[in-house]
Parts: sequence; structure tokens; C-alpha cells
Amino acid sequence: MAAFDGSTDYDVTLEIPVSIGGLELPNRLYRAPLLEHAGDDDPVDRLLDELEPCAEAGVGLLMQGATPIRGREGRAAPGMTGFEDPDRVASMSRLTDRIDAHGSRIFAQLAHGGLRSMEVWHAGYRRRNPGLRQRVVSKPPLPLRLADRLGILSIDADPLSTDEVYELAADFGRAADRAAAAGYHGVHLAGATMGIFQQFLSPFYNRRDDEFGGALDDRLRFFEVVHEEIRARTDVPLVTKVPAETETPWFVRESIDAEEAIEACRRLAEIGYDAVVPVGSSPFWDHAIIRGEFGSRGFDDRVSRGFEAAFGGPWRRRLVELAARIDAATTPFEAAWNADLCRRVRAVVDVPVLCVGGIRGRSEADRLLGDACSMVGMARPFYAEPRLAARLLAESDATAVCESCNNCVPPQAVGEPGVCRTPAVLKQRGEFEKRGAYEREGGNRRRDSDGPKL
Ligand SMILES: Cc1cc2nc3c(=O)[nH]c(=O)nc-3n(C[C@H](O)[C@H](O)[C@H](O)COP(=O)(O)O)c2cc1C
Ligand code: SF4
Repeated sequence: MAAFDGSTDYDVTLEIPVSIGGLELPNRLYRAPLLEHAGDDDPVDRLLDELEPCAEAGVGLLMQGATPIRGREGRAAPGMTGFEDPDRVASMSRLTDRIDAHGSRIFAQLAHGGLRSMEVWHAGYRRRNPGLRQRVVSKPPLPLRLADRLGILSIDADPLSTDEVYELAADFGRAADRAAAAGYHGVHLAGATMGIFQQFLSPFYNRRDDEFGGALDDRLRFFEVVHEEIRARTDVPLVTKVPAETETPWFVRESIDAEEAIEACRRLAEIGYDAVVPVGSSPFWDHAIIRGEFGSRGFDDRVSRGFEAAFGGPWRRRLVELAARIDAATTPFEAAWNADLCRRVRAVVDVPVLCVGGIRGRSEADRLLGDACSMVGMARPFYAEPRLAARLLAESDATAVCESCNNCVPPQAVGEPGVCRTPAVLKQRGEFEKRGAYEREGGNRRRDSDGPKL
């Protein structure tokens, strides 16, 4: 494979088109996946409320938040919208048509939580779904078994047999097929954030002795089979997040280091993935993927009660909260924290590299496009300003108002909508609205260019 030569191209800026797997995108800004909590019952209006303003304001690509592919099983958080039901997915055409009409594109993110699923961490969910099995990659590692002993998790893990791994991969293929039929322009796998893909890839979780465990190539086999299952059904572009467990705590001896993550990206491009999103993370579901402050304001009475219901009582809720505070203090915000990783990946792959994590300004985005990546993603800033794209595309010095305070995060664990919860930030948004800073004439129009560059 011819690798991208890593040279810098200072002519490439945010508003210049790009293509992923043959799909042309009107510019290089994408809304990274964020849970919308639209639920299973008539989710389209809720999704339209959240996503259509982003498209109207000109964002090139929208990555919808993670959607579980198997009914009640494998849901990482309350209020997700399942992609196992053909009628529900078909109803999404009303969403995809509207996004398309604004000239933006939308990808569905397909997910399975494995050990991060609610049947493992949410006591109330387990009670409501008593027959649900905990489908996981391997027997859980020691730190999770300790959390089980403390009563924070309730592990009764049921590792997938080899045949069942193939069946799970086929379910991803079926969900992708349904998504494509409903008008999604592409599929994004939830390859990181401690979901089942990361659990296959990470030696911390993956202790399998069949073809899905062992050396890196074997741990990548699940990504490969999912790719085959999707390609057997649809040819829409396929993208995945790829975790580098660079924030691994000292007590974890085996993890995916940056070198292995870079090699994984190279192999995934070789397998046929149309773009990769390398992200620094840890083997756990923690602040490493979001960085920033502990979201104190997010813990109101309602959320605290929800945490108690999930973790089984007040003292366990306090323990989880304390751990989250310590975790936030040890993983502070860093501007564009995945940029170096993306730059290194870009030197070894010939598909677009998408960079997300702590990117907030237009000039910063243009600098990154010059050498580290082909597209720039932002996640929390779109909660704070759904119409942010209009400002970023129009003003060379625009900066998102999101403060990375994470007040929007704790409510999500109890299924509350994903919205900005910081009054000072909302006030700033109001001022921009008054000034008409989010108005954009004509939506996304195709720019004259020599065609998209990588
Ligand atoms: C509340 C919340 C929900 C998220 N949901 C998802 C998700 O569904 N899928 C995913 O891959 N990443 C998810 N992420 C991670 C984001 O896509 C992104 O990688 C991270 O927030 C860093 O980008 P930012 O600094 O621009 O927010 C979520 C992040 C937050 C804060
Ligand atoms: S400023 Fe708003 S959107 Fe940004 S992290 Fe804080 S609460 Fe979330």
C-alpha cells in the first residue's frame, strides 16, 4: 500500500472538500459522535432537534452517537437508540433526508458495550432485564473483578464462543445494511471508548485462545470479520475509532500502546477501512477520552439518585464519584490531545485520518489539517453550540465557547439529554445568536476546487 507521505499542505483548510471511501464531503469539519439519548420510541424528532441545526449551519459530516446493534444487550448507556429493529432504522430516513437536503452527510455509529454494557454496571437495568446475559470477549480482568467484589459492578460474564463472535460480527453487518438502506451515508464503528471492539483489541481484556485472541493481527480479526460482514451487504464508507491506551494506570500490565495502535490503523486501512480515528484512551471507561474538569454541576439531586440506582446505593455512588474526581484531576484538558498520534498514523496510511479530542478553534483546525489529519472533529462543542459550524467556517479566528467543564457528562449516565449545562457558556451562545453569528446563507455548496484532497 502506498502510504501518505506525511508532507504538510498548508493550502488545506477547513472549508475545502474531502472524500472518505469515494463519498465527497463538503468540508473538513465533523460533529464527532455524542450520545443523543433519543431512546427507542419515535427517536427521529429528538434526533432532528439535535442534529439538523448542525447540518443547517454547514457541518460537513455528522457522526450520530453510538447505536447498539442488539436489542437490550450491549447498551452502554440509558436512552440509546437501537439499530436492531428494521422498522426503527427505516424510520431514520426522515432524519437522513433532512441532513442530506442541507448538503451535509451523516454516518451511523454502531456499537456493542461488552463489559461496558448496562447489564454489567447498572443495577436497575439488570433488575428490569433479568434474562440478559453479559456477552463479553473473555473472562474479566482482575480490576473489574475487584469492582464486582465491591458491589460497584455485578459481573456474571458469559464469554462469546467462536461461532458467537462470527454471529455478532454478522449482526454488525445487518445493522450497517439497515443503516445504509435508511440513507446513512456511512458507518462509523464504536472502536474505542471501552466498547467491545476495544475489548477485542486490548490485551488487557482479550485472553482468547481462538483466532480472535493472541498477537495484534489476531486481536484485530474481529474488526476484519465485521468489515467482511458489512462489505458483503453494503458499500457505504466504513470508519472506525482506534484506541491507543496511552493513559493506562500503573497496575495494568498489558495494553495497546501508541506503536501498536499505529500498526492497528495501518492494518485496518489495508483490510479496507476507509478512514481511521486514532484516539488516546485508557482500558477503562474514564476521563481519558474526554479530559477536562470533573462535571460537578452535572451532579444534581436527580442525577445523584440515578447514580445510586445504577451503582446500588449511596456509598457506592460516592465511591464512583470520588474515583471520577481523582480521574478528572489526573487527566486534565490538553488542546488537540490526539494530534501527535494522528500525525504518526497519517505517515503510515493512505486513507483519511480523522482527529478529535480537545480541538476548539478554527486556526488550530487549519494547522492540524496542514499536517496531522484530513478532517477535524469536535464533540462537546456541538452540545454548547449546535450551529457552531457557521462560525467556524466563516471566521478565521472563531473559537468554540465550550469550556470542557464536563457538566454535560454525569446526567448522561442516567439517560438525561445531551445538552450544555453551563449557564455562562449558554449566555455566550445567546450573545452570538443575537449577533446573527450562526446564520449561514445557502447551506453547503460545492466549492470549486481541483477535487477533494486527502
Ligand atoms: C457525553 C459524551 C458522549 C459521547 N458519546 C460518544 C459516542 O457515542 N461514541 C463515541 O465514539 N464517542 C463518544 N464520545 C467521545 C467524543 O466523540 C469525543 O471523542 C470526545 O468527547 C473528545 O472530543 P471533544 O473534546 O471535542 O469533546 C462522547 C463524549 C461525551 C462527552
Ligand atoms: S461547556 Fe457545556 S458542552 Fe462544554 S463541556 Fe461544559 S457543559 Fe459540556
